[in-house]
Amino acid sequence: MLLMGSVQDPMIDYVDQLVLCVRTIGRVVHAPLTRSRCYNNLPGQHVALYYSQRASKGGLLIAESTGVSETAQGYPNTPGIWTKEQVEAWKPVVEAVHRKGGVFFCQIWHVGRASTYDYQPSGQAPISCTDKQITPEVLEDGTVEEFSAPRRLTEDEIPSIVNDFRLAARNCIEAGFDGVEIHCAFGYLIKQFMKDSVNDRTDKYGGSMENRCRFALEVIQAAIDEIGADRVGVRLSPYSNCLDCWDSDPDALGLYMIHAMNKLGVLYCSMVETEVVKVDGKVQIPYKLLRFRKAFAGTFIVAGGYNREEGNKAVSEGYTDLVAYGKWFLANPDLPKRFELNAPLNKYDRSTFYTPDPVVGYTDYPFLDLSSV
Ligand SMILES: Cc1cc2nc3c(=O)[nH]c(=O)nc-3n(C[C@H](O)[C@H](O)[C@H](O)COP(=O)(O)O)c2cc1C
Repeated sequence: MLLMGSVQDPMIDYVDQLVLCVRTIGRVVHAPLTRSRCYNNLPGQHVALYYSQRASKGGLLIAESTGVSETAQGYPNTPGIWTKEQVEAWKPVVEAVHRKGGVFFCQIWHVGRASTYDYQPSGQAPISCTDKQITPEVLEDGTVEEFSAPRRLTEDEIPSIVNDFRLAARNCIEAGFDGVEIHCAFGYLIKQFMKDSVNDRTDKYGGSMENRCRFALEVIQAAIDEIGADRVGVRLSPYSNCLDCWDSDPDALGLYMIHAMNKLGVLYCSMVETEVVKVDGKVQIPYKLLRFRKAFAGTFIVAGGYNREEGNKAVSEGYTDLVAYGKWFLANPDLPKRFELNAPLNKYDRSTFYTPDPVVGYTDYPFLDLSSV
């Protein structure tokens, strides 16, 4: 059974039942998507509209990366969940999703060194496991993405960051979310600790794989202690190398995490495929995650380049339980319905992915005209 929960807990039974419905509507999950429209780190009414547009009975939605503390931020207009005001601001968003029968998890993150002085309290240096700076990167539009030189956390400081994740998990439940997804992917703080291209520590948080994964597992354990394993999912991207963050042995590291997550009873593992390539204009899914899927005891979610056909194939062949869709869900508020009907999809507009307008490229993607189907 997917997303199994304790029968003693009526809340989890509710999640379990709803997520079972995901199976019947194509197991389509809304992937976490930063949209940079939460001014002052607060989700507003337009955010409630965005998520409720994409909610459907039994559909699992993962909210965008949401900061666990003042030092967690690194991008414009991203939400937080460390203050009372932020918790209150999330409540109507979560209610709007629940009214439509959706299951809603919040992705919690800390960007670590992927930040600049401007985003940090009193203009301090961003924190990380290291003091190595991310190499500036020229983006597709020609702009250069630059991050400030980080400050290496001392061993004594690490428990307080773990505690920030614990409190954020508690706040998510207080805001009404059904659970949290801990962001251990791409090049953000938790992954900075995990990967040997970044982590150059010599204390108990650096060196061996066990030591490099210690921070991640302490965070996961803290969230589980606070809200229960049945409400905690984890996102990993073993093969991504963005933000100078990669590992010399991603297979061993991914499996180490999976086995440790099994011991902790983590509800789901959401994993991102390696770089997707196109051959003759057609997306080729690398299908490199099978070993992790086989090793993981909970519900498995894949993401990265999937369309309807590839998603159905992955589920029917047992490669995954659920498929998270990013760009297609962003552009198609009724994606599960369109997949069900095999209806045409709206194209996504990359130029508005991160623009701050509360409507344009956000809540104005049209629904399917059912009379035309
Ligand atoms: C606009 C945008 C924002 C994203 N924000 C996040 C995020 O906040 N957290 C995260 O884990 N992944 C994020 N991702 C990655 C997606 O969750 C997903 O893994 C990726 O888009 C690949 O899936 P797709 O090919 O279906 O789009 C983002 C992707 C896009 C396009």
